[in-house]
Amino acid sequence: MIDIKHVSYRYDEESPEAVKDVTLHISAGSFTAILGRNGSGKSTLAKLVNGLFQPTAGTILVDGLDTADDKNTWEIRKNAGMIFQNPDNQLVATVVRDDVAFGLENLGVPTEEMLPRVENALQHVGMEEHMDRAPHLLSGGQKQRVAIAGVLAMEPKAIICDEATAMLDPKGRKEVFETLRRLNREKGITVLWITHFMEEAAQCDNVYVMHDGSVVMQGTPMDIFRDPEALRPYRLDAPQMASLAASLRRAGVQLPENILTCEDMVREVKKLCC
Ligand SMILES: Nc1ncnc2c1ncn2[C@@H]1O[C@H](COP(=O)(O)OP(=O)(O)O)[C@@H](O)[C@H]1O
Ligand SMILES: [Mg+2]
Repeated sequence: MIDIKHVSYRYDEESPEAVKDVTLHISAGSFTAILGRNGSGKSTLAKLVNGLFQPTAGTILVDGLDTADDKNTWEIRKNAGMIFQNPDNQLVATVVRDDVAFGLENLGVPTEEMLPRVENALQHVGMEEHMDRAPHLLSGGQKQRVAIAGVLAMEPKAIICDEATAMLDPKGRKEVFETLRRLNREKGITVLWITHFMEEAAQCDNVYVMHDGSVVMQGTPMDIFRDPEALRPYRLDAPQMASLAASLRRAGVQLPENILTCEDMVREVKKLCC
């Protein structure tokens, strides 16, 4: 779905490359995390995928379309919708339903087709009851779900979320992450989940770790988080339970390496005790 080959990007001549020789492959239907500290190049990469910036070197294909060709920009943005960090910057209308319809109007979708698509999109994110409300009265998590509905109404193949939960409280974070997980499972939408939260990356299918503009690690969450020491150079910590399991293993407790979440820990500790 998204093929990034040896891509570099520099904002201006004086600054170092913000993205350095990045190669990654996002297959259709996958749910992939890009994990990295602040300044590691994640947002720059997202904007390159979206065609907002052109690579200084290398190529990016989104569903086979080269982002360097201006003729493809519109199709790429329709195929790969983006959700950003600040929900308030993404909502444009005074009523939820108009907000979700906004992108469809730009696409020139006939009016009679618009309402069912808007309703359907809002149902998919569990926001249909709020259709006639003003977006500014919603919680942060609800606003992000409306923004997701706006992207969903365009029937994209992929959704790129750039720190979509970073400004939300834990409840909002959970509801937004789970909405995307469900859209991925039920509708097969490819999700690129950009985050600095380890706990979220641990729930994705694949993880790429970025540091100083480069991809420095890639694999399943288990590959990435098995050894918390390996993440140190990139100033990242493993999820709490993975770290605890590693400490217990060092202290001689016979725990397996497949522990990332509380549920995993409870399951394995029960096995030890019973
Ligand atoms: N508009 C810009 N102009 C110049 N440098 C920028 C700009 N935006 C980001 N950068 C630099 O590019 C690097 C990567 O930033 P960014 O892609 O925003 O990282 P992340 O999203 O991982 O926090 C950083 O060193 C940052 O300072
Ligand atoms: Mg960023």
